[in-house]
Formats: sequence, C-alpha cells, structure tokens
Amino acid sequence: MSITISVYRYQPDSDSGSNASPSATGAKPYMQTFEVEAAPGMMLREALLAIKEQDETFAFRHSCGEGVCGSDGVNANGTNCLACITPVADLKQPIQVRPLPGRPVIRDLVVDMTQFYEQYRAVEPYLIRKDPLPEQEIRQSPEDREKLDGLYECILCGCCSTACPSFWWNPDKFHGPAALLQSWRFLADSRDQATEERLDALEGPYKLFRCHSIMNCVEVCPKGLNPTKAIGQIKELMLEQSV
Ligand code: SF4
Ligand code: SF4
Ligand code: FES
Repeated sequence: MSITISVYRYQPDSDSGSNASPSATGAKPYMQTFEVEAAPGMMLREALLAIKEQDETFAFRHSCGEGVCGSDGVNANGTNCLACITPVADLKQPIQVRPLPGRPVIRDLVVDMTQFYEQYRAVEPYLIRKDPLPEQEIRQSPEDREKLDGLYECILCGCCSTACPSFWWNPDKFHGPAALLQSWRFLADSRDQATEERLDALEGPYKLFRCHSIMNCVEVCPKGLNPTKAIGQIKELMLEQSV
C-alpha cells in the first residue's frame, strides 16, 4: 500500500546547485507530492527518508530516530510534531508536511532556529551558585529533585515555541515556551541561588508576560511537558517575591 505525502519545497540556493533536479529548482516555495510505499508501523521520518531516496535534493533534519535529539520537528497536517515518533497511520492523507511555522526557512523543511536558541541562552539554563562549591556534589533531597520532573525532560525540539503566536510575532523579545520552561527548571531547582536575578531579568512586557496562556505549546509538546504551567509558576513566584 502506498501513501501520498505532500512536502514543502523551498530551495533558495538551488539555481546555483548543479545537482538540483528540475523539479526542485526555483526560489519560490511550493508543495510537491510523492507516493511512498508504507510499511507497518511506519513513522513520518521514514516516509521522509523514502522521499529523499526519490529526490536527493529534499532536505530535512533528523538524527536519533527515537524522540530524543529533538532535531526533526516538522508541521504535519497543521500540527507540530517530531517526525520520528509520529505514525503515518495517524495522519490523514494526503499528508501535508511543512517546516515548523514562524521560523525563516533555510531549505525545504530545515528552518533557522537561531532566535530560538538565543532565547534559550538568555534564561541562563544552568545552575548559578553564590556559595563556594562543595568538595563533592551539591546535595538535593528526593522531594526537591522531584520538583524538576516535567521540566528537565525537554529536548529543545522547538515544537512548542514555533506553535506559539506570541513567539511568531516577537521571537526577538518574547522568550517563548521552551526557554521559559527552562527558566522555571532552574528557578525550581533547590541548588540554584539566583532566584532574584532570574526574576528581575524576566520583568517587562515581553520576555515572560507576552504569554497569553493560549496553550498551543502544551498541545504539541512531544514529551508531554507543560510550558504554560511553568510560566504560571514563574508568575506566581514573582508575585510572592514582590509582597
Ligand atoms: S500558553 Fe503562552 S507560551 Fe504557550 S502557546 Fe500560548 S502564549 Fe505561547
Ligand atoms: S517543551 Fe516540549 S515542545 Fe517545547 S522544546 Fe521542550 S520538548 Fe520540545
Ligand atoms: S530524530 Fe531525534 S527526535 Fe526525532
């Protein structure tokens, strides 16, 4: 049985590429349809690889194939997902596969995630200590460790931030759900000692407060994480600290 997949093609540099197929040339984006032989349990990533066998100029990112590396975020039938853990059987045909929304397209399904990573860096996603470091590890109770569940599992795939309208319009000013989840991950960590500085850095109308709790981010997270809840917890902590 074959399945029909329509994929977004955009190859701004293809005019100069001697290997580009005639169907892949031209700087305007278009959708191209392929027929792919479906195997039982086939994931969308395998279908994209089968397309690549038909047209080697087709570009998309992927690596682990296990939902771990976070590199193969795409938009399938209007919903952001990781191609490697999305069964094609769950997608209505013809399957429409586009790049993650709101990011500049480099080529086909490959988008420029620079601003996404800049926002991640901006929240200083690492422990900040003021006390001298102990000889060995910084100890943490099991209860405090549990507070990080649902936060540390983020694989930075960007499915959430690129589903967030506030991030589409302000990717340079709003941190976006992925970075804010990481901000809370370190605010919630009993070993971190920079709560005040972290909260001060989130002040203003954009970085945190541009979130309008629409919850697109929660719906698409392939790891089942809840950035909206994390954002709410940051806001609560801000309120607590201000009284
Ligand atoms: S809840 Fe906030 S962060 Fe999540 S999609 Fe909506 S505006 Fe974006
Ligand atoms: S919170 Fe979920 S959707 Fe967002 S980057 Fe992390 S794993 Fe991906
Ligand atoms: S290929 Fe690594 S998460 Fe899908």
